[in-house]
Amino acid sequence: MATLRPSVACPAKPTVKTEALHAVNMESIVLFGPPGAGKGTQAQRIMQSTGLPQVSTGDMLRASVAAGTETGMKAKKFMDAGQLVPDDVIIALIRDRIQDADASNGVMFDGFPRTIPQAEALAGITNVSHVIAIEVPDEKIVERICGRYTCGNCGAVYHDTFNPTKTEGTCNSCGSSDFKRRADDNADTVMSRLSAYHEQTSPLADWYDSKGIFHRIDGDRAIDEISTDILIALE
Ligand code: AP5
Repeated sequence: MATLRPSVACPAKPTVKTEALHAVNMESIVLFGPPGAGKGTQAQRIMQSTGLPQVSTGDMLRASVAAGTETGMKAKKFMDAGQLVPDDVIIALIRDRIQDADASNGVMFDGFPRTIPQAEALAGITNVSHVIAIEVPDEKIVERICGRYTCGNCGAVYHDTFNPTKTEGTCNSCGSSDFKRRADDNADTVMSRLSAYHEQTSPLADWYDSKGIFHRIDGDRAIDEISTDILIALE
C-alpha cells in the first residue's frame, strides 16, 4: 500500500496518561457523535481504562467490503453515497459480533447505534451504561475528515494538521510506514454523512437523554482534554 506522508508538519501533542486513571467497571458504552467528531480517536485512547474492546460498525463494514462478502456488497453503495446502511444489515453484524468471547463483559460501540431501531435492537442485546456524545460543530467536520489518515497496520488515526505522527511517515503506535485514506473521506460525501447524522442519528440524543445515561462532551478542544473528560464521565 502507498505510504502517505502528512502534508503539514505540526508539533506532537502531549499524550494523556490514561493508564494513571483507575479502571472503570461498567457494561457496554456508546461513543456517539457526527462523522469526524473523534469517536475512533477517543476509543483507541480510552480502551485501556475501560477494558472494553472497540466495536466500530464503520470498520466492520469496510472489512466486509474489502473481503467482498454479501454484507459488504449490500453496504458499499450506501457507504459510497454517505448514506446509512440499512438497519437489518447493521443489527445482524452487531448480533454476530457480540457473541465473540472478548465481548462477554461489554463493548465500546463506535458509530453504533445510529437510528432509533438500532438503539431498540441494542437494548435487547446488551445493557448500555453510558452514551458519550462528542459534540463538534458542522463547520469543523469537513477539515477534520479531509485531513484524516490511518495506519494501515494497526488502525491508529491521524490528521495532517491536528494530529500528525510524531515522526513523519512512521506510525506512533506500531512503527509502520503504511498509511491509508478512506474512500468516503471527501468533501461531497461528508455533506451527505452530516445530513444523515442530523436527520437520522441526532434524534437518538433525546432517546438516550430520557434514560439518564447521556453525557455531552465538548469535542472542539485538544484531544487530550476530551479523553480526560470522557474518563471522568465514565467514573
Ligand atoms: P464510520 O466509519 O463510522 O464513519 P463516521 O461516523 O462518519 O465517523 P468517522 O469514522 O468518520 O469519524 P470519527 O468520529 O471516528 O472521527 P476520527 O476519530 O476518525 O461510518 C462510515 C460509513 O459506514 C457511514 O457513512 C455509513 O454508510 C456506514 N455505517 C457505519 N456505521 C453505521 C450504522 N451504525 N448504521 C448505518 N450505517 C453505518 O477523527 C476524524 C479526524 O479528526 C482524524 O483525522 C483525527 O485525527 C481528527 N481529530 C480527532 N479528534 C480531534 C480533535 N479533538 N481536534 C482536532 N482533530 C481531531
